[in-house]
Amino acid sequence: MALTPTRRDLLAGAAAAIGAPSASVTASQSYPVFRALAARRGLLWGSAVEPQVMDADADFAALVRRECAVLTPENAMKWNALRPAPGQFDFSAADRVVALARAQNAYVHGHCLAWHEAMPDWLMQALNPSTGRELLTGHILSVVSRYAGQVRSWDVVNEGVERADYRPDGLRASPWLKALGPGYIDLAFHTAHEADPRARLGFADYGLEYDDVRWMVEKRCAMLIMLKGLLARGVPIDALALQGHLDAARPPSFGPGLGEFLDRVADLGLEIYVTELDVSDQTIPGDPAARDQVVAGVYHAFLERVLRQPAVRMVNTWGLADRHTSKTTFFPRADGQPVRPLPFDADLQPKPAAFAIAEVLTGAY
Ligand code: XIL
Repeated sequence: MALTPTRRDLLAGAAAAIGAPSASVTASQSYPVFRALAARRGLLWGSAVEPQVMDADADFAALVRRECAVLTPENAMKWNALRPAPGQFDFSAADRVVALARAQNAYVHGHCLAWHEAMPDWLMQALNPSTGRELLTGHILSVVSRYAGQVRSWDVVNEGVERADYRPDGLRASPWLKALGPGYIDLAFHTAHEADPRARLGFADYGLEYDDVRWMVEKRCAMLIMLKGLLARGVPIDALALQGHLDAARPPSFGPGLGEFLDRVADLGLEIYVTELDVSDQTIPGDPAARDQVVAGVYHAFLERVLRQPAVRMVNTWGLADRHTSKTTFFPRADGQPVRPLPFDADLQPKPAAFAIAEVLTGAY
């Protein structure tokens, strides 16, 4: 790790980073400033954002500005956003994310170049073994070169390992794999590297977090084998990204298994990112205050384990405040209560999760 701050440094940093609310974000209590707390330990803190939400909600944008050293486009750099029709590009939303990041002196984490979802219908129809190479490389060259020097890191392949597809190599039988074979992964990374040799290139996936979920433990093995293969073939990969979509209904089994997995990834010389951290309270009982405590405990347990590994260099939550979370639509509660998966609430006030995160970041636990 570049920075090895002492405990005294960390606490001094924490004090400096806890402050009174700015005029545009009202709060009745002191609040944690993630970007400052994280920076003290050589870590980048960020969030996924939607540019149209940032532009429509000035208070929320101010919160993002205060908290985030990285912005990840939640949807704006996916194929279905960038590629309305064959041969056409629409960079408007993606450009807006880059501009917002620049305006708040934040980096951009690009998401994502090859994924089995968010593929427009025209692409699904056009993609086959004879067109696949040109479609994949053409897209990556155009997009990555456009943002060369402006996007610090990319999720090059997203969710490319899937045990339930029962391939011996553990890879997901995605449309890209069906068209191009497993070599689509190498091709995507080589092409991204060619388009921007300075960008950090990552492989992102879910289901690597919990020690007590058998398929996740198995997926860690498949992931390590795949990563070793990439490195042995000289594929330019810099990082593994754990998405970090956590579930408050599960015991927070982020134990030695996760720690050892991260150690093995670090031993390969890779950086580690957490790119989509949130904690679903979709199915847990209780009033909001009770649920917030459970959610906070999950954030704390996860980060406490993950941040022990110095190769972890970036953490992005999947949204910042419960006011704007795609979980409202995709994972609603059966009782009709709003979901509360993020560190700040619908009024942009810090929740117990925000203080739990600050506690782990400062080492004050
Ligand atoms: C989700 C977004 O949050 C939604 O707004 C969108 O409708 C679908 O995609 N894994 C990923 C993310 O890598 O891109 C997904 O984001 C959530 C799961």
